[in-house]
Amino acid sequence: MMVSTMIMVAALAIVAALLVSLPVLYRLFSADAGDKTSRKKAIPPGSFGLPVIGHTLSLLGALRANTAEEWLRRRATAYGPVSRLSLFGCPTAFLVGPAANKFVFTSSALTTVNAEAFRRMVGRRNVFDLAGDEHARVRAMMVQFLKLDAVKSYVANMDAEVQRHLDAHWHGRASVAVMPSMKTLTFDVMSTVLFGLERDTAQELSKEFHQLVQGMWTVPIDLPFTRFSRCLAASRRGRRSVAAVIEERRAKLERGESSPADDMLTHMLSNGLPVEEITDHVMFLMVAAHDTTAALITFLLRHLDANKDAYAKVLQEQEEIARCKAAGEALSWEDLCKMRYTWAAAMETLRMVPPPFSMLRKVLADVEYGGYLIPKGWQVMEVLTMTHWDPAIFPDPGRFDPARFDDPSALPPYSFVPFGGGARMCPGNEFSRVETLVAVHYIVTRFRWKLAAGCDGSFSRHPMPYPTQGLLIDINPIH
Ligand code: HEM
Repeated sequence: MMVSTMIMVAALAIVAALLVSLPVLYRLFSADAGDKTSRKKAIPPGSFGLPVIGHTLSLLGALRANTAEEWLRRRATAYGPVSRLSLFGCPTAFLVGPAANKFVFTSSALTTVNAEAFRRMVGRRNVFDLAGDEHARVRAMMVQFLKLDAVKSYVANMDAEVQRHLDAHWHGRASVAVMPSMKTLTFDVMSTVLFGLERDTAQELSKEFHQLVQGMWTVPIDLPFTRFSRCLAASRRGRRSVAAVIEERRAKLERGESSPADDMLTHMLSNGLPVEEITDHVMFLMVAAHDTTAALITFLLRHLDANKDAYAKVLQEQEEIARCKAAGEALSWEDLCKMRYTWAAAMETLRMVPPPFSMLRKVLADVEYGGYLIPKGWQVMEVLTMTHWDPAIFPDPGRFDPARFDDPSALPPYSFVPFGGGARMCPGNEFSRVETLVAVHYIVTRFRWKLAAGCDGSFSRHPMPYPTQGLLIDINPIH
Protein backbone atom coordinates (compact mmCIF):
# COMPACT_ATOMS: atom_id res chain seq x y z
CA MET A 1 0.00 0.00 0.00
CA MET A 2 2.75 2.42 1.06
CA VAL A 3 4.79 1.53 -2.03
CA SER A 4 1.87 1.90 -4.43
CA THR A 5 0.96 5.29 -2.90
CA MET A 6 4.56 6.41 -3.26
CA ILE A 7 4.61 5.25 -6.86
CA MET A 8 1.35 7.13 -7.55
CA VAL A 9 2.72 10.32 -5.98
CA ALA A 10 5.96 9.88 -7.90
CA ALA A 11 4.08 9.33 -11.16
CA LEU A 12 1.86 12.38 -10.62
CA ALA A 13 4.82 14.55 -9.75
CA ILE A 14 6.76 13.36 -12.78
CA VAL A 15 3.73 14.02 -15.01
CA ALA A 16 3.24 17.52 -13.54
CA ALA A 17 6.91 18.42 -13.86
CA LEU A 18 7.12 17.09 -17.37
CA LEU A 19 4.00 18.84 -18.63
CA VAL A 20 5.54 22.16 -17.62
CA SER A 21 8.67 21.40 -19.59
CA LEU A 22 7.07 19.81 -22.65
CA PRO A 23 8.68 22.06 -25.30
CA VAL A 24 12.20 21.38 -23.96
CA LEU A 25 11.47 17.67 -23.70
CA TYR A 26 10.15 17.52 -27.23
CA ARG A 27 13.50 18.77 -28.48
CA LEU A 28 15.47 16.45 -26.20
CA PHE A 29 13.56 13.29 -27.08
CA SER A 30 13.14 14.02 -30.82
CA ALA A 31 15.09 11.79 -33.15
CA ASP A 32 17.33 14.58 -34.48
CA ALA A 33 18.22 15.94 -31.10
CA GLY A 34 21.73 17.40 -30.89
CA ASP A 35 23.61 20.15 -32.65
CA LYS A 36 23.11 20.42 -36.38
CA THR A 37 26.76 19.61 -37.06
CA SER A 38 26.60 16.21 -35.34
CA ARG A 39 23.23 15.00 -36.59
CA LYS A 40 24.80 12.53 -39.01
CA LYS A 41 25.43 9.98 -36.24
CA ALA A 42 22.53 7.93 -34.92
CA ILE A 43 21.43 8.18 -31.31
CA PRO A 44 21.86 4.92 -29.34
CA PRO A 45 19.39 2.08 -30.05
CA GLY A 46 16.66 1.24 -27.56
CA SER A 47 13.45 2.98 -26.59
CA PHE A 48 12.30 5.81 -24.37
CA GLY A 49 9.58 3.60 -22.89
CA LEU A 50 6.21 4.91 -21.77
CA PRO A 51 5.45 8.52 -22.60
CA VAL A 52 6.47 10.89 -19.79
CA ILE A 53 7.21 8.18 -17.21
CA GLY A 54 9.80 6.41 -19.35
CA HIS A 55 11.58 3.65 -17.45
CA THR A 56 11.79 5.42 -14.07
CA LEU A 57 9.17 3.47 -12.15
CA SER A 58 10.14 0.19 -13.74
CA LEU A 59 13.81 0.62 -12.76
CA LEU A 60 12.97 1.90 -9.25
CA GLY A 61 10.75 -1.17 -8.77
CA ALA A 62 13.57 -3.45 -9.94
CA LEU A 63 15.98 -1.75 -7.54
CA ARG A 64 13.66 -2.36 -4.62
CA ALA A 65 13.22 -6.00 -5.66
CA ASN A 66 16.99 -6.27 -6.16
CA THR A 67 16.50 -7.33 -9.78
CA ALA A 68 17.88 -4.15 -11.35
CA GLU A 69 21.02 -5.93 -12.62
CA GLU A 70 18.92 -8.43 -14.59
CA TRP A 71 16.66 -5.60 -15.76
CA LEU A 72 19.64 -3.68 -17.15
CA ARG A 73 21.43 -6.76 -18.46
CA ARG A 74 18.37 -7.61 -20.54
CA ARG A 75 18.62 -4.17 -22.16
CA ALA A 76 22.35 -4.59 -22.77
CA THR A 77 21.70 -8.00 -24.36
CA ALA A 78 18.91 -6.61 -26.54
CA TYR A 79 20.58 -3.38 -27.66
CA GLY A 80 24.32 -3.78 -27.03
CA PRO A 81 26.75 -1.86 -24.80
CA VAL A 82 25.33 1.55 -25.76
CA SER A 83 21.57 1.96 -25.56
CA ARG A 84 18.98 4.54 -24.71
CA LEU A 85 16.21 4.74 -22.16
CA SER A 86 14.41 7.45 -20.27
CA LEU A 87 14.97 8.09 -16.56
CA PHE A 88 13.59 10.85 -14.33
CA GLY A 89 12.12 12.56 -17.39
CA CYS A 90 15.46 12.72 -19.20
CA PRO A 91 16.73 10.76 -22.20
CA THR A 92 19.58 8.62 -20.93
CA ALA A 93 22.41 6.72 -22.62
CA PHE A 94 23.12 3.52 -20.73
CA LEU A 95 26.75 2.48 -21.27
CA VAL A 96 28.33 -0.86 -20.37
CA GLY A 97 31.96 -1.96 -19.98
CA PRO A 98 35.32 -0.72 -18.66
CA ALA A 99 35.72 1.73 -21.58
CA ALA A 100 32.28 3.14 -20.77
CA ASN A 101 33.30 3.57 -17.12
CA LYS A 102 36.40 5.44 -18.22
CA PHE A 103 34.32 7.66 -20.50
CA VAL A 104 31.84 8.47 -17.70
CA PHE A 105 34.60 9.26 -15.20
CA THR A 106 36.86 11.27 -17.48
CA SER A 107 34.97 12.88 -20.41
CA SER A 108 34.98 16.69 -20.27
CA ALA A 109 31.67 16.70 -22.16
CA LEU A 110 29.96 15.38 -19.01
CA THR A 111 29.18 16.91 -15.66
CA THR A 112 27.85 15.55 -12.36
CA VAL A 113 24.15 15.49 -11.63
CA ASN A 114 22.34 15.08 -8.33
CA ALA A 115 18.66 14.40 -7.73
CA GLU A 116 16.76 17.60 -6.88
CA ALA A 117 15.59 16.16 -3.55
CA PHE A 118 19.21 15.34 -2.66
CA ARG A 119 20.37 18.86 -3.48
CA ARG A 120 17.61 20.45 -1.43
CA MET A 121 18.45 18.18 1.48
CA VAL A 122 22.24 18.70 1.56
CA GLY A 123 22.48 22.14 -0.09
CA ARG A 124 23.27 23.28 -3.61
CA ARG A 125 26.91 24.29 -3.06
CA ASN A 126 27.98 20.78 -2.03
CA VAL A 127 31.30 19.61 -3.52
CA PHE A 128 29.66 17.16 -5.92
CA ASP A 129 27.62 19.95 -7.54
CA LEU A 130 30.61 22.22 -8.00
CA ALA A 131 32.59 22.12 -11.25
CA GLY A 132 35.97 23.21 -12.66
CA ASP A 133 38.28 25.30 -10.48
CA GLU A 134 35.71 25.69 -7.73
CA HIS A 135 35.39 21.92 -7.42
CA ALA A 136 39.17 21.42 -7.48
CA ARG A 137 39.69 24.05 -4.76
CA VAL A 138 37.12 22.63 -2.35
CA ARG A 139 38.14 19.06 -3.05
CA ALA A 140 41.76 19.95 -2.22
CA MET A 141 40.59 21.34 1.15
CA MET A 142 38.82 18.06 1.89
CA VAL A 143 41.68 15.88 0.70
CA GLN A 144 43.97 17.66 3.15
CA PHE A 145 42.05 15.84 5.91
CA LEU A 146 41.26 12.60 4.04
CA LYS A 147 44.62 11.73 2.48
CA LEU A 148 46.59 8.79 3.76
CA ASP A 149 48.85 10.77 6.14
CA ALA A 150 45.85 12.40 7.77
CA VAL A 151 43.93 9.13 8.01
CA LYS A 152 46.90 7.43 9.72
CA SER A 153 46.53 9.94 12.54
CA TYR A 154 42.86 8.99 13.04
CA VAL A 155 43.48 5.29 13.77
CA ALA A 156 43.58 5.61 17.57
CA ASN A 157 40.40 7.73 17.66
CA MET A 158 38.59 5.35 15.33
CA ASP A 159 39.68 2.47 17.53
CA ALA A 160 38.18 4.21 20.58
CA GLU A 161 34.92 4.96 18.73
CA VAL A 162 34.52 1.36 17.54
CA GLN A 163 35.16 -0.07 21.02
CA ARG A 164 32.79 2.45 22.59
CA HIS A 165 30.11 1.56 20.05
CA LEU A 166 30.43 -2.19 20.59
CA ASP A 167 30.37 -1.74 24.38
CA ALA A 168 27.22 0.36 24.15
CA HIS A 169 25.31 -1.43 21.37
CA TRP A 170 26.56 -5.04 21.16
CA HIS A 171 27.75 -6.22 24.56
CA GLY A 172 25.00 -7.68 26.70
CA ARG A 173 22.67 -8.17 23.71
CA ALA A 174 21.54 -11.45 22.19
CA SER A 175 21.00 -10.01 18.72
CA VAL A 176 21.90 -6.92 16.72
CA ALA A 177 20.60 -5.42 13.47
CA VAL A 178 23.97 -4.81 11.81
CA MET A 179 23.11 -2.12 9.26
CA PRO A 180 21.46 0.35 11.68
CA SER A 181 24.25 -0.31 14.17
CA MET A 182 26.96 0.36 11.57
CA LYS A 183 25.17 3.51 10.41
CA THR A 184 25.29 4.82 13.97
CA LEU A 185 28.95 3.87 14.25
CA THR A 186 30.04 5.43 10.95
CA PHE A 187 28.06 8.57 11.69
CA ASP A 188 29.72 8.89 15.10
CA VAL A 189 33.16 8.30 13.60
CA MET A 190 32.65 11.05 11.02
CA SER A 191 31.24 13.49 13.57
CA THR A 192 33.88 13.01 16.22
CA VAL A 193 37.01 11.94 14.32
CA LEU A 194 36.71 14.14 11.23
CA PHE A 195 34.74 17.14 12.49
CA GLY A 196 35.63 17.01 16.19
CA LEU A 197 31.99 17.42 17.30
CA GLU A 198 30.97 16.99 20.93
CA ARG A 199 29.09 13.74 21.56
CA ASP A 200 25.82 15.56 22.40
CA THR A 201 25.89 17.51 19.15
CA ALA A 202 26.76 14.33 17.22
CA GLN A 203 23.80 12.48 18.76
CA GLU A 204 21.40 15.32 18.01
CA LEU A 205 22.67 15.49 14.42
CA SER A 206 22.48 11.75 14.02
CA LYS A 207 18.68 11.84 14.64
CA GLU A 208 18.22 14.53 11.98
CA PHE A 209 20.37 12.66 9.46
CA HIS A 210 18.53 9.44 10.10
CA GLN A 211 15.38 11.27 9.02
CA LEU A 212 16.78 13.36 6.20
CA VAL A 213 18.46 10.52 4.28
CA GLN A 214 15.01 8.97 3.85
CA GLY A 215 13.96 11.96 1.78
CA MET A 216 16.94 12.20 -0.56
CA TRP A 217 15.50 9.98 -3.26
CA THR A 218 11.87 11.08 -3.00
CA VAL A 219 9.90 13.36 -5.28
CA PRO A 220 10.68 16.89 -4.05
CA ILE A 221 7.15 18.08 -3.25
CA ASP A 222 7.24 20.29 -0.17
CA LEU A 223 3.67 19.84 1.14
CA PRO A 224 2.77 19.15 4.79
CA PHE A 225 1.90 15.47 4.27
CA THR A 226 4.89 14.46 2.11
CA ARG A 227 7.89 12.53 3.31
CA PHE A 228 10.05 15.05 1.48
CA SER A 229 8.72 17.88 3.61
CA ARG A 230 9.35 15.99 6.88
CA CYS A 231 12.88 15.19 5.78
CA LEU A 232 13.49 18.76 4.67
CA ALA A 233 12.51 19.95 8.15
CA ALA A 234 15.08 17.52 9.62
CA SER A 235 17.66 18.83 7.15
CA ARG A 236 16.97 22.43 8.27
CA ARG A 237 17.43 21.47 11.93
CA GLY A 238 20.62 19.56 11.06
CA ARG A 239 21.96 22.54 9.10
CA ARG A 240 21.33 24.86 12.03
CA SER A 241 23.38 22.63 14.36
CA VAL A 242 26.21 22.33 11.82
CA ALA A 243 26.22 26.09 11.19
CA ALA A 244 26.39 26.74 14.95
CA VAL A 245 29.47 24.52 15.23
CA ILE A 246 31.13 26.32 12.29
CA GLU A 247 30.41 29.71 13.93
CA GLU A 248 32.09 28.47 17.14
CA ARG A 249 35.14 27.42 15.12
CA ARG A 250 35.20 30.82 13.46
CA ALA A 251 35.16 32.56 16.85
CA LYS A 252 38.03 30.36 18.04
CA LEU A 253 40.03 31.08 14.89
CA GLU A 254 39.47 34.82 15.28
CA ARG A 255 40.58 34.68 18.93
CA GLY A 256 43.76 32.95 17.77
CA GLU A 257 42.88 29.79 19.72
CA SER A 258 43.01 27.49 16.68
CA SER A 259 44.87 27.12 13.41
CA PRO A 260 43.76 26.06 9.89
CA ALA A 261 45.57 22.73 10.29
CA ASP A 262 43.39 21.76 13.28
CA ASP A 263 40.33 20.47 11.41
CA MET A 264 38.51 20.65 8.08
CA LEU A 265 35.98 23.26 9.19
CA THR A 266 38.63 25.68 10.46
CA HIS A 267 40.68 25.03 7.31
CA MET A 268 37.71 25.91 5.09
CA LEU A 269 36.95 29.03 7.15
CA SER A 270 40.52 30.25 6.87
CA ASN A 271 40.30 29.74 3.10
CA GLY A 272 37.41 32.20 3.00
CA LEU A 273 34.49 29.82 2.42
CA PRO A 274 31.20 31.19 3.81
CA VAL A 275 29.47 29.33 6.66
CA GLU A 276 26.50 28.48 4.41
CA GLU A 277 28.75 26.75 1.89
CA ILE A 278 30.80 24.90 4.52
CA THR A 279 27.50 23.65 5.91
CA ASP A 280 26.65 22.19 2.47
CA HIS A 281 30.02 20.42 2.35
CA VAL A 282 29.58 18.97 5.83
CA MET A 283 26.06 17.78 4.98
CA PHE A 284 27.33 16.15 1.78
CA LEU A 285 30.30 14.51 3.51
CA MET A 286 28.11 13.09 6.26
CA VAL A 287 25.81 11.52 3.67
CA ALA A 288 28.61 10.35 1.35
CA ALA A 289 30.62 8.82 4.16
CA HIS A 290 28.37 7.06 6.59
CA ASP A 291 25.81 5.03 4.61
CA THR A 292 28.43 3.77 2.17
CA THR A 293 30.89 2.55 4.79
CA ALA A 294 28.06 1.12 6.90
CA ALA A 295 26.91 -0.88 3.85
CA LEU A 296 30.45 -2.14 3.25
CA ILE A 297 30.92 -3.41 6.83
CA THR A 298 27.41 -4.90 6.93
CA PHE A 299 27.72 -6.81 3.67
CA LEU A 300 31.22 -7.95 4.54
CA LEU A 301 29.83 -9.60 7.68
CA ARG A 302 27.02 -11.10 5.61
CA HIS A 303 29.49 -12.61 3.14
CA LEU A 304 31.74 -13.89 5.91
CA ASP A 305 28.74 -15.58 7.49
CA ALA A 306 27.97 -17.34 4.21
CA ASN A 307 31.62 -18.23 3.39
CA LYS A 308 33.18 -20.08 6.31
CA ASP A 309 36.52 -20.49 4.59
CA ALA A 310 36.95 -16.74 4.11
CA TYR A 311 35.67 -16.16 7.65
CA ALA A 312 38.29 -18.53 9.08
CA LYS A 313 41.07 -16.68 7.24
CA VAL A 314 39.85 -13.27 8.39
CA LEU A 315 39.54 -14.55 11.96
CA GLN A 316 43.05 -16.01 11.90
CA GLU A 317 44.51 -12.75 10.54
CA GLN A 318 42.73 -10.67 13.17
CA GLU A 319 43.51 -13.00 16.08
CA GLU A 320 47.21 -12.93 15.21
CA ILE A 321 47.13 -9.15 15.44
CA ALA A 322 45.10 -9.21 18.67
CA ARG A 323 47.59 -11.63 20.25
CA CYS A 324 50.42 -9.12 19.79
CA LYS A 325 48.59 -6.33 21.59
CA ALA A 326 48.82 -5.56 25.30
CA ALA A 327 45.51 -5.36 27.18
CA GLY A 328 43.72 -2.13 26.23
CA GLU A 329 46.33 -1.20 23.58
CA ALA A 330 44.74 0.43 20.51
CA LEU A 331 45.33 -0.76 16.95
CA SER A 332 48.12 1.05 15.13
CA TRP A 333 48.67 1.89 11.48
CA GLU A 334 51.18 -0.99 11.30
CA ASP A 335 48.48 -3.41 12.49
CA LEU A 336 46.15 -2.24 9.73
CA CYS A 337 48.86 -2.83 7.13
CA LYS A 338 48.87 -6.51 8.16
CA MET A 339 45.14 -6.91 7.43
CA ARG A 340 45.69 -7.82 3.80
CA TYR A 341 43.25 -10.70 3.57
CA THR A 342 40.54 -8.81 5.46
CA TRP A 343 40.81 -5.92 3.02
CA ALA A 344 40.73 -8.33 0.06
CA ALA A 345 37.48 -9.70 1.52
CA ALA A 346 36.18 -6.13 1.81
CA MET A 347 37.08 -5.44 -1.83
CA GLU A 348 35.33 -8.63 -2.89
CA THR A 349 32.29 -7.34 -0.97
CA LEU A 350 32.53 -4.01 -2.81
CA ARG A 351 32.69 -5.93 -6.08
CA MET A 352 29.59 -7.98 -5.35
CA VAL A 353 27.52 -5.33 -3.56
CA PRO A 354 28.92 -1.89 -4.45
CA PRO A 355 27.19 0.66 -2.19
CA PRO A 356 26.53 3.19 -5.00
CA PHE A 357 24.54 1.45 -7.71
CA SER A 358 25.32 3.68 -10.67
CA MET A 359 27.07 6.83 -11.76
CA LEU A 360 24.97 9.40 -13.57
CA ARG A 361 26.27 12.37 -15.57
CA LYS A 362 24.68 15.16 -17.59
CA VAL A 363 25.85 15.76 -21.18
CA LEU A 364 27.13 19.36 -21.57
CA ALA A 365 27.79 19.25 -25.32
CA ASP A 366 26.97 16.73 -28.06
CA VAL A 367 29.41 13.88 -27.71
CA GLU A 368 30.11 10.65 -29.58
CA TYR A 369 30.60 7.34 -27.86
CA GLY A 370 30.77 3.84 -29.33
CA GLY A 371 29.76 5.14 -32.77
CA TYR A 372 26.63 6.93 -31.52
CA LEU A 373 25.71 10.53 -30.89
CA ILE A 374 24.74 11.35 -27.31
CA PRO A 375 23.09 14.75 -27.55
CA LYS A 376 23.58 17.68 -25.20
CA GLY A 377 21.04 17.64 -22.36
CA TRP A 378 20.86 13.83 -22.13
CA GLN A 379 22.08 11.86 -19.15
CA VAL A 380 24.72 9.16 -19.28
CA MET A 381 24.57 6.23 -16.88
CA GLU A 382 26.96 3.42 -16.01
CA VAL A 383 26.10 0.72 -13.51
CA LEU A 384 28.93 -0.65 -11.36
CA THR A 385 27.82 -4.27 -11.35
CA MET A 386 27.87 -4.42 -15.16
CA THR A 387 31.66 -4.78 -14.96
CA HIS A 388 31.88 -6.12 -11.39
CA TRP A 389 29.74 -9.11 -12.38
CA ASP A 390 31.07 -9.55 -15.92
CA PRO A 391 32.29 -13.20 -16.11
CA ALA A 392 34.89 -12.23 -18.72
CA ILE A 393 36.55 -10.00 -16.09
CA PHE A 394 35.61 -11.82 -12.86
CA PRO A 395 35.07 -15.53 -13.66
CA ASP A 396 32.21 -17.15 -11.74
CA PRO A 397 31.12 -13.72 -10.50
CA GLY A 398 28.55 -15.06 -8.01
CA ARG A 399 31.32 -16.77 -5.98
CA PHE A 400 32.75 -14.80 -3.02
CA ASP A 401 36.49 -15.09 -3.57
CA PRO A 402 38.79 -12.52 -1.91
CA ALA A 403 41.77 -14.09 -3.75
CA ARG A 404 40.68 -12.13 -6.82
CA PHE A 405 42.21 -9.13 -5.05
CA ASP A 406 45.59 -10.68 -4.27
CA ASP A 407 46.97 -8.30 -6.86
CA PRO A 408 44.39 -5.58 -7.63
CA SER A 409 46.77 -3.93 -10.11
CA ALA A 410 46.33 -6.98 -12.40
CA LEU A 411 42.65 -6.11 -12.98
CA PRO A 412 41.78 -4.42 -16.28
CA PRO A 413 41.60 -0.62 -15.81
CA TYR A 414 38.15 0.75 -14.95
CA SER A 415 36.65 -2.71 -14.39
CA PHE A 416 36.49 -2.50 -10.57
CA VAL A 417 35.22 0.94 -9.67
CA PRO A 418 33.47 0.98 -6.27
CA PHE A 419 35.08 4.34 -5.48
CA GLY A 420 34.50 5.79 -8.96
CA GLY A 421 37.36 7.28 -10.97
CA GLY A 422 38.85 10.42 -12.51
CA ALA A 423 38.52 13.85 -10.93
CA ARG A 424 35.51 12.73 -8.87
CA MET A 425 37.01 9.58 -7.47
CA CYS A 426 36.00 9.13 -3.85
CA PRO A 427 38.47 11.05 -1.65
CA GLY A 428 37.22 9.10 1.39
CA ASN A 429 38.46 5.66 0.26
CA GLU A 430 41.34 5.51 2.76
CA PHE A 431 39.11 6.79 5.53
CA SER A 432 36.52 4.09 4.86
CA ARG A 433 39.24 1.42 4.54
CA VAL A 434 40.65 2.18 7.99
CA GLU A 435 37.20 2.45 9.54
CA THR A 436 36.13 -0.87 8.04
CA LEU A 437 39.29 -2.70 9.15
CA VAL A 438 39.10 -1.39 12.71
CA ALA A 439 35.40 -2.28 12.99
CA VAL A 440 35.89 -5.79 11.57
CA HIS A 441 38.87 -6.40 13.87
CA TYR A 442 36.83 -5.85 17.02
CA ILE A 443 33.68 -7.55 15.73
CA VAL A 444 35.40 -10.81 14.71
CA THR A 445 37.73 -11.00 17.72
CA ARG A 446 35.00 -10.23 20.26
CA PHE A 447 31.87 -11.92 18.88
CA ARG A 448 30.68 -15.06 17.18
CA TRP A 449 27.57 -14.46 15.11
CA LYS A 450 25.05 -16.14 12.83
CA LEU A 451 22.05 -14.82 10.94
CA ALA A 452 18.98 -14.70 13.18
CA ALA A 453 16.08 -17.05 12.43
CA GLY A 454 14.05 -15.58 9.55
CA CYS A 455 16.91 -13.38 8.34
CA ASP A 456 18.09 -14.78 5.00
CA GLY A 457 20.67 -12.14 4.11
CA SER A 458 18.65 -10.88 1.12
CA PHE A 459 18.59 -7.17 0.36
CA SER A 460 16.94 -4.44 -1.66
CA ARG A 461 18.24 -1.14 -3.00
CA HIS A 462 16.94 2.36 -2.14
CA PRO A 463 19.29 2.86 -4.12
CA MET A 464 21.82 2.05 -1.35
CA PRO A 465 21.75 -1.69 -0.58
CA TYR A 466 19.77 -2.42 2.57
CA PRO A 467 19.58 -5.98 3.95
CA THR A 468 16.29 -7.51 5.04
CA GLN A 469 15.74 -6.86 8.76
CA GLY A 470 18.88 -4.69 8.68
CA LEU A 471 20.84 -7.99 8.74
CA LEU A 472 19.69 -9.26 12.09
CA ILE A 473 22.31 -11.50 13.71
CA ASP A 474 22.44 -13.50 16.93
CA ILE A 475 25.66 -12.76 18.77
CA ASN A 476 27.74 -14.37 21.49
CA PRO A 477 30.68 -12.59 23.09
CA ILE A 478 34.04 -14.39 22.98
CA HIS A 479 35.57 -14.46 26.45
C1 HEM B 1 32.77 2.20 1.25
C2 HEM B 1 32.72 3.50 1.34
C3 HEM B 1 32.55 4.44 0.19
C4 HEM B 1 32.23 4.20 -1.13
C5 HEM B 1 31.94 2.86 -1.78
C6 HEM B 1 32.23 5.48 -1.81
C7 HEM B 1 31.98 5.64 -3.16
C8 HEM B 1 32.06 6.85 -3.83
C9 HEM B 1 31.90 7.00 -5.25
C10 HEM B 1 31.64 5.88 -6.24
C11 HEM B 1 32.05 8.32 -5.53
C12 HEM B 1 32.03 8.96 -6.92
C13 HEM B 1 30.62 9.28 -7.36
C14 HEM B 1 30.54 9.70 -8.80
O1 HEM B 1 31.57 9.86 -9.47
O2 HEM B 1 29.41 9.88 -9.29
C15 HEM B 1 32.28 9.01 -4.29
C16 HEM B 1 32.44 10.37 -4.17
C17 HEM B 1 32.69 11.00 -2.98
N1 HEM B 1 32.91 10.41 -1.75
FE1 HEM B 1 32.82 8.44 -1.34
N2 HEM B 1 32.53 6.46 -0.91
C18 HEM B 1 32.75 5.87 0.31
C19 HEM B 1 33.12 6.51 1.49
C20 HEM B 1 33.38 7.85 1.61
C21 HEM B 1 33.89 8.48 2.81
C22 HEM B 1 34.23 7.75 4.11
C23 HEM B 1 33.98 9.81 2.53
C24 HEM B 1 34.47 10.94 3.40
C25 HEM B 1 35.01 10.80 4.58
C26 HEM B 1 33.55 10.01 1.15
C27 HEM B 1 33.50 11.23 0.50
C28 HEM B 1 33.19 11.40 -0.84
C29 HEM B 1 33.15 12.69 -1.50
C30 HEM B 1 33.42 14.07 -0.86
C31 HEM B 1 32.83 12.45 -2.84
C32 HEM B 1 32.66 13.49 -3.95
C33 HEM B 1 33.98 13.73 -4.63
C34 HEM B 1 33.94 14.82 -5.68
O3 HEM B 1 32.87 15.20 -6.16
O4 HEM B 1 35.04 15.27 -6.03
N3 HEM B 1 33.20 8.79 0.63
N4 HEM B 1 32.30 8.10 -3.26
